[in-house]
Amino acid sequence: MIRRHFFLHVTALAALGLGACRPPESDVPAPEVAVVRDVLASDGGMVVSAYPEASVAGAEVLAAGGNAVDAAIATGLALAVTHPAAGNIGGGGFMVIRFPDGSSTAIDFREKAPLRAHPEMFVGEDGEYSYQIHHRSHLAVGVPGTVAGFALAHEKYGNAEWAGLVEPSVALARDGFVVSERLAGSLGRMVDRFRDYPASYAQFSRDGEPYEVGDTLLQADLAATMERIRDEGRDGFYLGMTARLLAEEMERGGGWITEEDLARYEAKEREPVRGTYRGYDVISMPPPSSGGTALVQMLNVLEGFDVAGMGAGNPEVAHHLIEAMRRAFRDRAMFLADSDFADVPVERLTSKAYADEIRPTIQPAAASVSAPADVDAAADWESSETTHYSVVDADGMAVSVTYTLEGGYGSYITVPGAGFLLNNEMGDFNGRPGLTNESGLIGTDANLARPEQRMLSSMTPTILARDGELVAVIGSPGGRTIINTVLHLVVNTVDFALAPADVVAAKRLHHQWLPDRARLENGYMSEADGDVLAAMGHEVGWTGSQGIAHCIFVDGATGELVGVPDPRDSDGAAAGY
Ligand code: DON
Repeated sequence: MIRRHFFLHVTALAALGLGACRPPESDVPAPEVAVVRDVLASDGGMVVSAYPEASVAGAEVLAAGGNAVDAAIATGLALAVTHPAAGNIGGGGFMVIRFPDGSSTAIDFREKAPLRAHPEMFVGEDGEYSYQIHHRSHLAVGVPGTVAGFALAHEKYGNAEWAGLVEPSVALARDGFVVSERLAGSLGRMVDRFRDYPASYAQFSRDGEPYEVGDTLLQADLAATMERIRDEGRDGFYLGMTARLLAEEMERGGGWITEEDLARYEAKEREPVRGTYRGYDVISMPPPSSGGTALVQMLNVLEGFDVAGMGAGNPEVAHHLIEAMRRAFRDRAMFLADSDFADVPVERLTSKAYADEIRPTIQPAAASVSAPADVDAAADWESSETTHYSVVDADGMAVSVTYTLEGGYGSYITVPGAGFLLNNEMGDFNGRPGLTNESGLIGTDANLARPEQRMLSSMTPTILARDGELVAVIGSPGGRTIINTVLHLVVNTVDFALAPADVVAAKRLHHQWLPDRARLENGYMSEADGDVLAAMGHEVGWTGSQGIAHCIFVDGATGELVGVPDPRDSDGAAAGY
């Protein structure tokens, strides 16, 4: 039941040009779902995602009796229609689930390298490493994992009929949805870039004319693909027509993904990374993401400092955050990769004992230097085109999902006849053995492209609990900044005890070991305090925005769910009943 009144009824969506989704079939009238682009409190179920229709698709599944896994699937598929920059069926990601009894699990649907992959595959005919091949070519596409991940999650933990979870996406693609101002702007900026990709150009512009706010975006080919997924489940994507169309596009463009690669793709259930921070349980994503491991490592280090006493947003706390980040990102570059292929020392990296070794290396008010001892350089900054969403059902089952195409609109390649964009996730593998340089490449062995290996990720879908009770479902896009955004969300919750809206709105900062530079969101601190931080030896830069954290919190006093769309995203929306 919704307890706050500044919400819009779903029936009001159309009047606002937001459109609406059909609920799954049910004989019992489902409770009414509300959707807002602001904080929403409810004692029923809740979804917070990057687009209103996608949040509604999930919330209606909850209202009709589906559980949080069901709703996460419906929301994820709906985002593949309404949020094409990052929502996807042609990419991959991670789902962390906490059950009402306090147990937890994780679903890994990260993309894999095709069978033909090898560590030198991003080298051009001239014998040189090629950024173009690595990030913007058919070879940059990994074998997609999203549909397999959702199918596995549904098979193991879902409650509702699969078809009913896919149907809202079929309808959104077939009947269209109303283009928001942000989406119109985003698609408009892509028109020229899509010129080389005819199926993308056709799907996301009107003969080269950008869509405008209020227009209806119809995606007939995508609707047909969603129908195959609705009717055949996983096989509707990995076998038959969809797989054939994808493999044909690969052949046309010199990519290596074959129908065999698609048929062999498997999502995996994994043990989450678990840590504790001042009595809170932290449940997050294990390899092939570096996120959970680095997050727990940083929290363990910070646990030995009086972070609350330092206070938020000042040079002292910034210094300690930066130093914890610097060390975790160095270890990330050294050790993290797909644990099915490399021996990743997760247990040691996330141990309290290791944090005890790290802490004394941090000076109280002087920056360390990111000495690239074993690795010569590290990666550059990344954009924020991934998407995170959070779901909690009325029984307290919580689902945290972050998934991506890697760059915004991935490889820019829409599969002709199938209507979905392909990722460019192969760019998350290291470029070439031993290749490190000033522009930000890492050449360490563990994360090189190999047949069926998963590329290292930073995505950090996370769940917080305390004394057996759910506290928060959190996560963010933002490439490497993701891990640090989630760190802020935890520290803001635990150390600074901020109200949910403030936990998300508070300014963030980022440091990733190399380049040896801290980047603060404008307003994180005053310029004078920035000078104090610089005087400690930190290189300080400023940025407009870091991350988009669509989160759900549990109000400790009332037990209500509090959905908080990150105000950094104008389309983010909480939907609940
Ligand atoms: O898996 C990862 O960590 C990245 N591919 C996520 C990408 C992202 O957040 C957007 N920025 N490039």
